[in-house]
Amino acid sequence: MTNQTYRTDSLIAEDIDAYLQAHQHKTMLRFITCGSVDDGKSTLIGRLLYDSKMIFEDQLASLEADSKKLGTQGGNIDFALLVDGLAAEREQGITIDVAYRFFATEKRKFIVADTPGHEQYTRNMVTGASTADLAVILIDARKGVLTQTRRHSYLVHLLGIRHVVLAVNKMDLVGYDEAVFQAIVADYRSFADSIGISDFTAIPISGLAGDNITSTSLQTPWYQGPTLLAHLEQVPLNSTAAQTAPFRMAVQWVNRPNLDFRGFAGLVASGTLRPGDAVRVLPSGKTSKVARIVALGGDKAMAVAGESITLTLTDEIDCSRGQVIVAAQSPLEVADQFETTIVWMDDTEMVPGRAYWLKIGAQTVSATVQAPKYEVNVNTQEHLATKTLDLNAIGVANITTDRDIPFAPYAENSDLGGFILIDKITNRTVAAGMIHFALRRAQNIHWQATEISREDHAAMKNQKPCVLWLTGLSGSGKSTIANVLERKLARMNRHTFLLDGDNVRHGLNKDLGFTEADRVENIRRVGEVAKLMTDAGLIVITAFISPFRSERDMVRAMMQPGEFLEVFVDTPLEHAEARDVKGLYAKARAGVLKNFTGIDSPYEAPEQAEIRIDTTQTTPEQAADMIIARLIP
Ligand code: ADX
Repeated sequence: MTNQTYRTDSLIAEDIDAYLQAHQHKTMLRFITCGSVDDGKSTLIGRLLYDSKMIFEDQLASLEADSKKLGTQGGNIDFALLVDGLAAEREQGITIDVAYRFFATEKRKFIVADTPGHEQYTRNMVTGASTADLAVILIDARKGVLTQTRRHSYLVHLLGIRHVVLAVNKMDLVGYDEAVFQAIVADYRSFADSIGISDFTAIPISGLAGDNITSTSLQTPWYQGPTLLAHLEQVPLNSTAAQTAPFRMAVQWVNRPNLDFRGFAGLVASGTLRPGDAVRVLPSGKTSKVARIVALGGDKAMAVAGESITLTLTDEIDCSRGQVIVAAQSPLEVADQFETTIVWMDDTEMVPGRAYWLKIGAQTVSATVQAPKYEVNVNTQEHLATKTLDLNAIGVANITTDRDIPFAPYAENSDLGGFILIDKITNRTVAAGMIHFALRRAQNIHWQATEISREDHAAMKNQKPCVLWLTGLSGSGKSTIANVLERKLARMNRHTFLLDGDNVRHGLNKDLGFTEADRVENIRRVGEVAKLMTDAGLIVITAFISPFRSERDMVRAMMQPGEFLEVFVDTPLEHAEARDVKGLYAKARAGVLKNFTGIDSPYEAPEQAEIRIDTTQTTPEQAADMIIARLIP
């Protein structure tokens, strides 16, 4: 331990502010460690924390306290205990997230994302890697390049991490043999080339014995390169590139403490900014100039990539959370259709056509993913044909968002081109994605304003258009009720149209079957048609099983508020099956009809339907009257 380090350590104990001050001007490197279960990841991280003899995160502090093994200064805890603690904690946290550990040396601060290695935790690795500047790929010298190594490297490259360290660990167990090291490096190099990793730094180490971690090992005289820590301290940071790129900042929130001050707060994703600079707000395209850059200690003359700032503009222009402020002269592209790479991270497979929340920058929009163009075999980089993506699968697919979003290709800027997908029902993060480019067709199709408005159409028919969406099991009585309902409305001089599942599947949707994806597409098309019909002023009645909450909600969101009435035709499965009007339940039970709703395909009952009809208590006539009563009070 150097004197310098000692002083810093005692400083922590005495004066945390002074300590933080001392660290404030150091650069920060974020990195991720990737390795399989037994590659010695915990040992390595423990070694870095231990040997750098600096502040550890809170958890370690308590660990130290518990063990009573610590001296008066930090850094004196027992090494093995530290490693055990890290491993135990990581295993506990395994299903939740990534453990981030902080340490510092005299040259730099570090945040290391420690992620579990098992294949099923691709999700965690993607989380950890998404903010990293560098990846340490750990290899067990006895095992060489493994499937896991390839998988991790592919993900690291995919996520845009440009600095890769190949840490060949456990060199002590192969007698510090240079030939073993070189063979692994050569093997890795040919793989790295094949996936586009042009450069990496290979270091022979032993986490356990401490070789080439913080001090040069005497056991590897044939190795002339830096130690791992020295390399981490000197590797150039990406921020220089980010600073020469044009200015971009997604607005995280609008700060309006009083009428005189309206500040836009966010993290500068790239570029530099000075008061007086001309900026543009996207997607609106409105321009203004920067009035002030407000920071904690007072106004700033300049802000650079990586800083969190609040800026004010010289004009009162519309700008809200999620919008992006950019240099006026080099605006971002704005689009609503993209080609993307998607890493699926949920147990439930992707459903093409389903609407998910897409979170990009500071914005959340609704988005649908189309069937993948292909899936990538991460181990061989082969492209495989597929209809969906399941847990840990990586594929390329087009995405459509429900509104324009400003973006940059992920390769240019991970903040403005990276996104996550969230399931609307479960609220789970189901995928991470990267935008490649916008599809050109989106830019060439513009909404055409028509002269006769939907209000004109409705007025001519002297009615308020709406959608009466009947949902329920096959044989629940949807079609019967729908028919009675339409007859009654017609008698009342209402202009209606009935869309019925079996009928629509003879024409518009005759290409669709009963897989989850096909049902989603069935409902999406019916929703679009129903919407056009309400634009034409009609009262639309639909009779589709529509088994999934997500798609019913999607159609609801497509309509004007109050125009969508969900009618749950609630018939217990036993009743529908006992009636079995079309003989389909018998076939499904016999196994000749697959994916039958209620038998081997789910039905998600509505939770907040506007109208529920208990068909065991209500005749179709009464049901129709109930709906009409709700419609025409
Ligand atoms: S939905 O699930 O996509 O909304 P939709 O209402 O269009 O289904 O079609 C359901 C009708 O198709 C049923 O009433 C039944 O006559 C017929 N059908 C044929 N195969 C199936 C199946 N596997 N599951 C459900 N309905 C089926």
